Amino acid sequence: MSESMNGLTRTAYCGSFRLSNVGEKAVVTGWVQRRRSLGSLIFIDLRDRTGIVQIVLDETVSEKSLFEKAESVRSEYVLAVEGTVRERSSKTDKIATGEVEILAENIKILSEAELTPFEIIDDTQVNETLRLKYRYLDLRRPVLQNNLKIRSQIAMSARQYLYDLGFMEIETPFLGKSTPEGARDYLVPSRIHEGCFYALPQSPQLYKQLLMIAGYDRYYQIAKCFRDEDLRANRQPEFTQIDLEMSFVEKETDVMYTVEGLVKKIFKDAVNIDLGSDHFRTLSYEEAMTRYGSDKPDTRFEMELKDISDIVKDSPFVVFSSAISSGGSVRAINFKSGAKNLSRKDLDALSEFAKTLGAKGLCWLVKNGGEVKSSFNKFLNNELIDALSERLDIVDGDAVFISADKDTVVFNTLGGLRLHLAEKFNLFDKDKYDVLWVVDFPMFEYSEEEQRYVAMHHPFTAPKDEDLHLLDVDPTKMRAKAYDLVINGQEAGGGSIRIYSRELQAKIFNILKFSDEDIEKKFGFFVNAFKYGTPPHGGLAFGLDRLTMLLAKTESIKDVIAFPKVQNASCVMSEAPSKVEKKQLDELYLSIRDDKKD
Ligand code: AMO
Repeated sequence: MSESMNGLTRTAYCGSFRLSNVGEKAVVTGWVQRRRSLGSLIFIDLRDRTGIVQIVLDETVSEKSLFEKAESVRSEYVLAVEGTVRERSSKTDKIATGEVEILAENIKILSEAELTPFEIIDDTQVNETLRLKYRYLDLRRPVLQNNLKIRSQIAMSARQYLYDLGFMEIETPFLGKSTPEGARDYLVPSRIHEGCFYALPQSPQLYKQLLMIAGYDRYYQIAKCFRDEDLRANRQPEFTQIDLEMSFVEKETDVMYTVEGLVKKIFKDAVNIDLGSDHFRTLSYEEAMTRYGSDKPDTRFEMELKDISDIVKDSPFVVFSSAISSGGSVRAINFKSGAKNLSRKDLDALSEFAKTLGAKGLCWLVKNGGEVKSSFNKFLNNELIDALSERLDIVDGDAVFISADKDTVVFNTLGGLRLHLAEKFNLFDKDKYDVLWVVDFPMFEYSEEEQRYVAMHHPFTAPKDEDLHLLDVDPTKMRAKAYDLVINGQEAGGGSIRIYSRELQAKIFNILKFSDEDIEKKFGFFVNAFKYGTPPHGGLAFGLDRLTMLLAKTESIKDVIAFPKVQNASCVMSEAPSKVEKKQLDELYLSIRDDKKD
């Protein structure tokens, strides 16, 4: 039977007790981590979100009924305990309160607990699905509590920083209009408007720009966003952005420098890391791609890409020469001292791995004990070895990987391989933070799927002033006033200076092949607003989940979200999404087709 607290009021959290508290009376509340009965002594480890404190009952001094009650306590029972803090005879440094314990004088069993499906410990071997089914138990584990604490601290620091700089927190709707571009929308059927749908926002982009037009000058919001896209280790269908927008800014650095202050404060407040007073490093998109094969480069280790097209352009090896003659390139990375770590089997496995990145194959070359071996031995001669050795700085023990294809494939292959090797062979310091900006993105990228140019960031991103002359000549060569914040090889945030001229916006829509009718239908409300006085403006959004992952040093986005979705976008605990009653469908004028999707 549950007891009431009967006037017991918590005086301190479990994790707070130290030697200086010895002699004090205290009331603590929490969950039983474990109970140990050692003859005349009973020890109860009581846990709350701050830590664990040891409760002790001594048969020689404790009342018999209290001793018996303590004996009945099981793991995960919820207790309120009143007692006196005393020094422990056998101290431990495993917990922060390890020098003291509380001699219980009164115990209330506030709630009993059945045997939990798994033990509440950090170092759990229990499979993730079971943990997610009982997420409220999983969330009791200190490691997850710490992650959510970091998350809360990040949000708090962001609010403080932005509020102090005059940013106003303004909410924008969840029920909006489906707009083109970006990921697939989550749709919500309307009951009142037959056959019509709201779309959940992929980001507050349009609203925050409208708020600038409305004169709010500086806006921010910790905003839920929804994107129906395939999940990855750092992607969820609903995620959170720290979203901001500023008026009367023109240069990218106007926004970037404001954001740098925010990132520095977050690092300091959440994990006590000082990122220094310098501006963050900046890499152009082109440099990021050609040196690291990625627009979110991890520069904690080298292994940079090198273009060897000029060396192999006339090679009799058609893999090389045809890649170049058809407009692509041949590039390589040198895994320094890698040869000793890689057997022939490993090299084959890496070629297979390259195929998962879109490559048709991967060439390799290793130099070991003075001997050079490669996957293209037939075409290897001393002249080629010398030229490659010079360009790639090959010394004995090195392993080189070469990709020949369209640039996009080459970058993806070598960029991905570089990360894979670094991860596999621990080539970087995991405690180091590598924070940088990637700037000067192209305005457009060609979508094979849609057979047209699409905006690389979004259609409202302004082109760079110095590229405006390309607008009527070769717009595909224009670069954007866009910037991404990259931390340890992950895109933590992205933004841009926006177009505020109607004429320029119309031209950009034209390049994107949006018809006037499309524009009017899809976001006429937005474009119309620009007629009535629009300030220059720009902004950025951080992925709060990703930022928390990085600061909590976890590989999975699920570890920083209280109730995350799994790979197939479902919630294992609540079993959402689920079928609904026919009556609900009828109200929404919907019926479910009985033919299956292929
Ligand atoms: P963007 O689409 O780059 O920009 O998103 C901004 C940041 O949000 C995070 N993010 C995600 N995090 C988890 N799961 C996802 N599915 C996911 N998708 C994105 C990333 C990313 O850097 N409106 C613009 C911002 C602007 O221009 O101001 C936008 O949404 O960390």
